[in-house]
This record gives sequence, structure tokens and C-alpha cells, in this order.
Amino acid sequence: MLYSICYVSTSSQDLNSSELKQLFEFCAIKNITKNISGILLHNSGNFLQYFEGDEVKIKELYYSKIKKDNRHKNIITVFEKKIDNLYFTGYKAGFTSVIEENQTASLRSYLNLLNYLDSTEMEALSKTVNSFISAR
Ligand SMILES: Cc1cc2nc3c(=O)[nH]c(=O)nc-3n(C[C@H](O)[C@H](O)[C@H](O)COP(=O)(O)O)c2cc1C
Repeated sequence: MLYSICYVSTSSQDLNSSELKQLFEFCAIKNITKNISGILLHNSGNFLQYFEGDEVKIKELYYSKIKKDNRHKNIITVFEKKIDNLYFTGYKAGFTSVIEENQTASLRSYLNLLNYLDSTEMEALSKTVNSFISAR
């Protein structure tokens, strides 16, 4: 069964840019090996992450690791739900972390495509991410 989770959170104050970069690289590599796709964004001290894949792996990652990670706090689940198909597999390596300004343009155009998908959550996600990256 496929599952997806989207949350927002606040990054810890002591997280500097090289630690952020390290975290993003770690997530991209780890998720690809576990067939987890999605996006991780950081902007103005906030994270937004959407990830999808095998239900057991997704729940394990969120509840046993991400939620307990002290590099962020105030974690709010935007939605979590079963999905029929993966939405992000077509996008680059499957997992994208955006910290650089120039990466947001391609992400933004990709997310516009998601608006055409027949899923209220994906449309909501697309809008949320768009507002997140346009706040830069
Ligand atoms: C904002 C944020 C997002 C994260 N996202 C992921 C993720 O998508 N995949 C992942 O494996 N770890 C992610 N982590 C790291 C995990 O919390 C945890 O450190 C990591 O999974 C530990 O892996 P290990 O126990 O296998 O060493 C994230 C951490 C933070 C702070």
C-alpha cells in the first residue's frame, strides 16, 4: 500500500547552512535507496516536506525518525493519506531538496503540472509549495 505525508515545521535556531545542506543531501540519498519520493523545502526558518512510498516505510520514517529529530520543532502534519500512485517518481531522481533560489523555477513548473491531477491533496500541496517558494 502506498502512503503519503506532508508536514511543515520550524528549523532549530542552531542549524547553519552547511548543516542544512548536509541534511538535504542525506535525505535525498536515503530516500532514493528506500524508494521514497517527494520534496523537502527550507525557507525562512521553516521546512515543508512531502514524501510518499511504501506505507510501512513512510510511517516508520515520520513517526520514529523525523518527528523525533531535534533539528526541527513545531511539527504540524498537513495531511497523511493512502495514495493509489506515486506523484513524484517522474521528477529528477525522485526526491528533491530545494535550498537554492535557482532550483525553485523548475520545481514551480513541475508543481503546476500537479494541479491537473485528480487529487484534492495534490492540488493543495501544489498551492502550498508554490506559496512557500514564492515567499522568497
Ligand atoms: C526536516 C527534516 C527532514 C528529514 N527528512 C528525512 C527524509 O526524508 N528521509 C530520511 O531518511 N531522513 C530524514 N530526516 C532525518 C531523520 O530525522 C533521521 O535523522 C534519519 O532518518 C536517521 O537515519 P538513520 O537512523 O538510518 O541513521 C529528516 C530530518 C529533518 C530535520
